[in-house]
Amino acid sequence: MSTINEVKQRTDIVELISEYVPLQKAGRNFKALCPFHSEAHPSFFVFPEQQTWHCFGACGTGGDVFAFIMKKEGIDFGQALRLLAQRAGIALSPPGMPAKTEDKEKEKLFQVNEAAAEYYHHLLLTTTAGEAARSYLVERKVSIETIKEFRLGFSPDSWDTVKKYLMNKGYEGKELAGAGLIIEKEGGNSYDRFRNRLVFPICDAQGRVTGFGARALDDSLPKYVNSPQTSIFDKSSSLYGIDKAISAIRKKNLVIVVEGYMDVLLPHQCGWQNVVASMGTAITEKQASVIKRLTKNIFVALDGDAAGKEATLRDGEPLAHLDVLVRSGDSDKKLVAAPSWVLSGLAQCEDILDAEIKVIVLPPGKDPDEVVRENPILWQNLVEQALPMLDFAFDVVMREVDISKAKDKSLAIEKLLPLIEETKDTLRQAQYVQKLASLLKISEPELMSILRKSRANRRRQPMGRTGQSRLARQISSSPVEEYCLALLLQYPELCHQSQELSPNHFDHTENREIFVQWQHSSDIADLQSKFDASLLEHLYYLLNKTFPPDIRESDRARQLDLANCILRLQEKLSRRLEAEKGVMLEVERERGGTSSELSKLEEQGINSGQQLREVFVKKGIRQWI
Ligand code: UTP
Ligand code: MN
Repeated sequence: MSTINEVKQRTDIVELISEYVPLQKAGRNFKALCPFHSEAHPSFFVFPEQQTWHCFGACGTGGDVFAFIMKKEGIDFGQALRLLAQRAGIALSPPGMPAKTEDKEKEKLFQVNEAAAEYYHHLLLTTTAGEAARSYLVERKVSIETIKEFRLGFSPDSWDTVKKYLMNKGYEGKELAGAGLIIEKEGGNSYDRFRNRLVFPICDAQGRVTGFGARALDDSLPKYVNSPQTSIFDKSSSLYGIDKAISAIRKKNLVIVVEGYMDVLLPHQCGWQNVVASMGTAITEKQASVIKRLTKNIFVALDGDAAGKEATLRDGEPLAHLDVLVRSGDSDKKLVAAPSWVLSGLAQCEDILDAEIKVIVLPPGKDPDEVVRENPILWQNLVEQALPMLDFAFDVVMREVDISKAKDKSLAIEKLLPLIEETKDTLRQAQYVQKLASLLKISEPELMSILRKSRANRRRQPMGRTGQSRLARQISSSPVEEYCLALLLQYPELCHQSQELSPNHFDHTENREIFVQWQHSSDIADLQSKFDASLLEHLYYLLNKTFPPDIRESDRARQLDLANCILRLQEKLSRRLEAEKGVMLEVERERGGTSSELSKLEEQGINSGQQLREVFVKKGIRQWI
């Protein structure tokens, strides 16, 4: 993936912008006073689903994360890319390093990981040193078949056994460090990262070893040491066991997501091959996007008791922003946010994944590993009784409140109604409202009136960081923008056809920048000289894009293809303007302002946000600007 796309995928626009301006929820979107000009009413909008922003006020500008940072910090694209990459923890490759070298380096890391996995596995199975780890696995009822299938291993209690072994095999220190297998000290020394531990190789969907998790054989801390982030390992996008689960997930059309490495082994051993682990953290959008390609049915195993206990109901804090805390032995992080998304943005997340998410509620203090080992029938039943997420949230909240107290009643409403509101299906929404009213022993009109009051209150509260939009669809590239640019760049004779295009047709800043500079360049060499490494990578990508044979061979086919692209870009632009107009009308209506004025304008055929804004400015209607 290109650096630009990686930065986009790892940057959530709502989180980013809320670091600069306090955002308020406005339906599915967010609004704020525009950070680029002074105004009395919010006309600056952020659209999580499109990962874009727009100011409907005096500045009338908008764009993606790059456009925001460039404008806000007054910097160019390259600087914005560096800033956002740093924020997202992405190492930028040194300027000018061609992608091919990068791929080769990654390939090398896969190889060294593979060699390490084999070696750890060999040490576990055949050496005296591995004896303790072998008996630990026997104690935990992990069969030899499972050990072999998952290629479990043992890292010896030594500072350099693995380092020496791999270096003897011809790997270099820099590769071992790059894969996170050794830790480098200042002064040039280095030592094995994993020592005296049971080793779990973590694989990607294709079965390539990306990293390792390694468990202590006793109660010492940290319980697990994991590979650090490397160019091939990103904990937040990995799912432990995915390579072995793919076909079962497809076959059963169901995935069960658990938390831990151990929670994958026993279920697989007992015939539940559709189990994968999120590795102790909340499920991320990247993990979700892997799952999404396989099934729409997602079950998450949760210790219901822990969720309930940790979900202390504090006043004024909507459940949607509540993190369920779980134990973690990572020395630097005592607590990690557990599947908080289970209780947050439920419907939105289901909506985006277009999936049904259910919760498998585990007995207090038990994890799937123990349940499956001790009582497979119980596990089977728990899976069958999995609850829709909203029902689970109901259970958690209702357990915490005393409905004979008025204060608790409104607390329950405050926690649960926002979740119900997120459900798009109106029938389900009505059913849950009914359910809540009956649980609280109040009438629906009473409930609705409490809801209205709490909505009014919530409107006054500034939004914090949003859990919800983390799962928002991350739109990291636009194929049609890229295709169109690639045609223009590779076939200069098409230039005259581009007159109908404007920078506005390119929503993605990297494409827009290239288009703008291209318009002012005499040839490719001239264009190249205008960019630094950040955009050159993207430019080379576009210059190297290959076209189907008919496009390569026929002028006519290219012309038609480009015309088609331009048409699609125009459609895209008018759809965007249309959507923006919708938001604007909504804002206007909410303010109870000049809606008749607006409909008159519509009758006059003014139907784009930009045109409307201009007319409003001309007429001096500044009330909503
Ligand atoms: P658990 O503490 O539940 O571990 O953490 P577990 O996998 O069930 O292991 P056992 O049964 O106690 O042996 C769940 C997951 O959280 C991550 C690991 O992925 C672990 O499997 N984790 C936990 C860490 O990365 N580091 C830690 O120190 C602890
Ligand atoms: Mn466990």
